[in-house]
This record gives sequence, C-alpha cells and structure tokens, in this order.
Amino acid sequence: MLIRSRRGFEIPESQVTPEALVLNRRALVGAGAALLPSVAFAPGALAQSATASPPLPAAQRNPRYVAGRDITSEREATTYNNFYEFGSSKGIARDAARMPLRPWTIKVEGMVGKPREFAIDELIGLMPLEERVLRLRCVEGWSMVVPWTGFPLAELVKLVEPASSARFIAFQTAAIPSVMPGLRQTWYPWPHTEGCTVAEAMNDMSFLAVGNYGKPLQGSNGAPIRVLFPWKYGFKSGKSIVRITFTDRQPATYWNTIQPSEYGFWANVNPQVAHPRWSQATERVLGTGERVPTQLFNGYGEFVADLYTNMQRERLWA
Ligand code: MTE
Repeated sequence: MLIRSRRGFEIPESQVTPEALVLNRRALVGAGAALLPSVAFAPGALAQSATASPPLPAAQRNPRYVAGRDITSEREATTYNNFYEFGSSKGIARDAARMPLRPWTIKVEGMVGKPREFAIDELIGLMPLEERVLRLRCVEGWSMVVPWTGFPLAELVKLVEPASSARFIAFQTAAIPSVMPGLRQTWYPWPHTEGCTVAEAMNDMSFLAVGNYGKPLQGSNGAPIRVLFPWKYGFKSGKSIVRITFTDRQPATYWNTIQPSEYGFWANVNPQVAHPRWSQATERVLGTGERVPTQLFNGYGEFVADLYTNMQRERLWA
C-alpha cells in the first residue's frame, strides 16, 4: 500500500523546506552531535574511518561536455542531497559519512558472458578515469553543476560481454541497516534499484562516478561509486552501487514502483512536460538561487536524443 504523506522528495520546490531552515536545523544537530563520539563533520572534507576511500589517481578533464554554468560549491553539492537510505531530509551528509566504504565489491552479473565481482579499487584501477563537469537536474526543480571523476559505463559493459538478448541493466544500491536509518521506513521498496537500457548504457554520456571535486566521492554523493545519466532527472542516478544485473526485462525501479503515475522509467528531462503536481519549465540553481530555464534532455540532446527515435509510444518524460 502506498502511504503518500510519507514520501518527501516529490514535493515541489515551493513546498520543500526552505534551505535556511534546513541549515538552521543542521546547526542544531551539529551542536547536539558534539556529545557523540562520532566522525568529525566538516562539509567538503567529511572525515572517514579506516574504511574510507583512498585518494584517486589523477584524471584529465574531458572537454567534450561543457556545463555552461559555474560549478556549484563543493559544500553545497556535498551537503544538500537526496539519499533516502539516510532519511528524507537534505541534511544527511553527517550520517552518510559513517558508511563503511572498504571493503566494497560490485557484482556484475545476469545475461553476460563474463560475470565478475570487482573490488572497488580493482575496478578503479582497470578503468580509464576522466573528469566531467556535468549538470544534474533533480525532478524537484533544483540543479547543480559538479566536476565528477569516473569512467564511461560503456567501458564496464564491454568488459563483461552482455548477451545480445540482454536489453536492460538494473543498478542495485547498498542497504546497510547499521548506518542507514531510512531503511527502517519499510514502506519504501528497498534496496534502492534503478535501471537503463543497454543502448543507453553504451552512450558515452552514461557515467560511473567514483569521485567529485578531485577527491573520492563522499557518502552523501553516493560513495564509493554511483551512476550518472545527466540527461535524466537525478532520481535515475543511483548512489552507492553494489550490484549491476543485465536482463531482458525492464527492471522495477525505486520511484516508479512507489508512484508510477508521477515517475516514469525513462525520466528524461523535458521542460514542457510538467510533473503532475508542478511545472518543470525552470529550475533553481543550487548555491546562487538563480532561476533558469530547464532544457530538453537537460541540454544534452545532441548526445542522447537519437536513443529515443521511433519510441514515440513510450512515456519518455518523467
Ligand atoms: N540513490 C540512492 N541509493 N538513494 C536515493 O535516495 N536519490 C536520487 C539519486 N540517487 C537517491 C539516489 C535523487 S532523487 C537525486 S536528485 C540524486 O541522487 C541526488 O544526487 P546528489 O545528492 O549527489 O545531488
């Protein structure tokens, strides 16, 4: 049964808790946390324990993708987050910093010729790392620009040799009850799963990020590895991935399972297709508060629009 009043992220920007209140709340939480024997909290440099990620190898910026906007401050991008495993507020960074990040393995399985289980550092060592400065547009109506370090999803797909009958990929993300209080909200369909087609995965824009701002990802942004589909609403970009499964069936995905009438499988950004409860015509730029027009495919149409030719019958927009 769906318990509508419990869902948080799909409320429009106008009803989202004003940022100032969130920050004030954070200050209070911060004061209380002084009593706890916990990790230190310094946004942009959240301390981790021995299970933290080691530094990343150097990565060159890919000039192909130009954001056309200033990069969002690291503080903003790492402390204003959606990560429901840690709760439905934006201020989950402190809790997410407690996530143990090593050892971390990713299983790649299903309809592939060479199923594999990678230790995260082994995978990072195998892949061609690069930096991409990308826009991310949340379905709630805010956006940011982040320099991500990672590698094209296609490189991983090629390594495991998918069967020609595999059409979809499911991304299952971590569920660690000891550090994720959100998992106690049993009405959500845990573990969080997202999905794409193999054709979408082979597009150069599909990216697996292991870092941002030149450092390993912090818990709040989906450490140690998350997927990014920059032309889709942010809810498609699953965080903290543990399993990647190739299949011939469209996988059930998190928000689409919770509320299919509001969140589609494809969820491509389109300013002309309103969410049933709010307009998607414009977006609020995190950090500056500026409101700018939203672009079709989040401005990446030249790279991805051809994925959707002859798919007019599909509900391509969230
Ligand atoms: N991945 C997991 N595992 N859990 C989540 O709640 N939220 C999604 C997506 N990935 C989410 C997730 C949503 S709604 C958005 S907008 C983006 O992460 C936000 O990414 P950011 O916090 O790094 O900006």
